[in-house]
Amino acid sequence: MPGAPRIVPSVLPADQSRLGEEVRALEEAGADRIQWDVMDGHFVPNLTFGPDVIAAARPHCSLPFEAHLMVEGPEELLPRYVEAGCEVLILHAESTVNLHRALASVPELGDGSARAAVALSPATPAAAVAHVLDLVSMVLVMTVNPGFGGHAYIATMEPKLAEVAALLAGLERPVDLEVDGGIGPSTIAGASAAGADVFVAGSSLWKDPDGIAHAIEDLRERAVAAAPR
Ligand code: DX5
Repeated sequence: MPGAPRIVPSVLPADQSRLGEEVRALEEAGADRIQWDVMDGHFVPNLTFGPDVIAAARPHCSLPFEAHLMVEGPEELLPRYVEAGCEVLILHAESTVNLHRALASVPELGDGSARAAVALSPATPAAAVAHVLDLVSMVLVMTVNPGFGGHAYIATMEPKLAEVAALLAGLERPVDLEVDGGIGPSTIAGASAAGADVFVAGSSLWKDPDGIAHAIEDLRERAVAAAPR
């Protein structure tokens, strides 16, 4: 069964000149965790920030940070994201031929508290993670093609969400199912009903006329209402 719904803002739409203040404001607005969309301009056609920017924001917020590594060869810099203060490192199944080894290396980094997660881009089947579930604390199913915020939710990913949820339900220990891309008031119910329990939201938070705190609470309520019983 899915866990209690958690809302994880992406900093992609935030004011990049004031990221410390922005993550503090997200904490005050009731976020459960913060997602850093790391993009290298190769794995995805966009370039964002690296571990130094995350480290600079770390002291401004006490929420857990997760690094969504949309990069080729994520293994190279894993230690730097742990040193920067990320508790969850999300590696794309498509980003390395040594996925099992890379995921297995995460708990050996830093003080050993960092956790690995694996992400699936839209065209990648759920089966791609079937043999690494023992290495992760979370599976991320993308509901947009990674690289940009503000894109439309791909509802045809919901059967894949349900497929991954069924894989996770068979495990001895809880593994979160995160969804990322186009999550907002009109889409979160479908993702929650399909089995997601962690929801990344970017543009929909900053678009809410009643503010980010309202947006987070509204999304959480919608996710709870639609969650499988
Ligand atoms: C895509 C990014 C976005 C972002 C959320 O690579 O991962 O999905 O986090 O942005 P919205 O909520 O605007 O899709």
